[in-house]
Amino acid sequence: KRTPIIAGNWKMFKTVSEAVSFFSEVKGKAEVAGVESVICAPYTTLPALVEAAKGTSIAIGAQNVHFEDNGAYTGEISGVMLKDLGVKYVIIGHSERRAYFAESDEIVNKKVHASFKHSLLPIVCVGEKLEEREAGQTKDVCKVQTEAAFQGLSAAQAAEVVIAYEPIWAIGTGKSSTSEDAQDVIGYIRGIVAGLYDQATADAVRIQYGGSVKPNNVAEYLGQADIDGALVGGASLEPASYIALVEGA
Ligand code: 13P
Repeated sequence: KRTPIIAGNWKMFKTVSEAVSFFSEVKGKAEVAGVESVICAPYTTLPALVEAAKGTSIAIGAQNVHFEDNGAYTGEISGVMLKDLGVKYVIIGHSERRAYFAESDEIVNKKVHASFKHSLLPIVCVGEKLEEREAGQTKDVCKVQTEAAFQGLSAAQAAEVVIAYEPIWAIGTGKSSTSEDAQDVIGYIRGIVAGLYDQATADAVRIQYGGSVKPNNVAEYLGQADIDGALVGGASLEPASYIALVEGA
């Protein structure tokens, strides 16, 4: 049985002191047996959060990683550096990075390999744009993105990937996918992984839904057979809301 995983994606929010204050409020509360709780925070806050999370069951994640270990890449952060900090997860290929920072499927795949090289666990984001959904291309888009992200991974690595299905039109809009529609796409994505590897690998992969997840709808998503958690933006920023998400999972 897959362990549900609730991950907050803070995006470009919170200073170090705000992050530490948030953590002190959720500590002991956003820790529920049988649910994995992860905070994916800005780079600047990671050292303080990793320190604060010691002795708790809350894992800390980054929101991006460069695919090289080091080099002349001004402004970038590598897997070596994240591992050195004690970070456990890293979000890769979020739609905002694909849209605003030109991350291609090929770059996403390189970043997935870089994360495994440094024993970081990738949360790989896939999902369609509104036009693609309206054109009936949702599953095709998810198939292309998923196959590209997994290229060259062993079955053992593949089983550890967390996929986040985030329909782009549902991000930050309050327009969430129905749980049935999300289940339909996520079940399809699991089938893609089964096709690339085998059923056992596909059964091990955790697949989250993301896009306007709130404390009042999280349980509905998690109630679907193939939905193993949520990647949450806005509703992960307030301690009470984050605690409610983890409790609701
Ligand atoms: P919201 O929860 O704010 O819609 O953001 C979703 C998201 O992009 C998480 O990665």
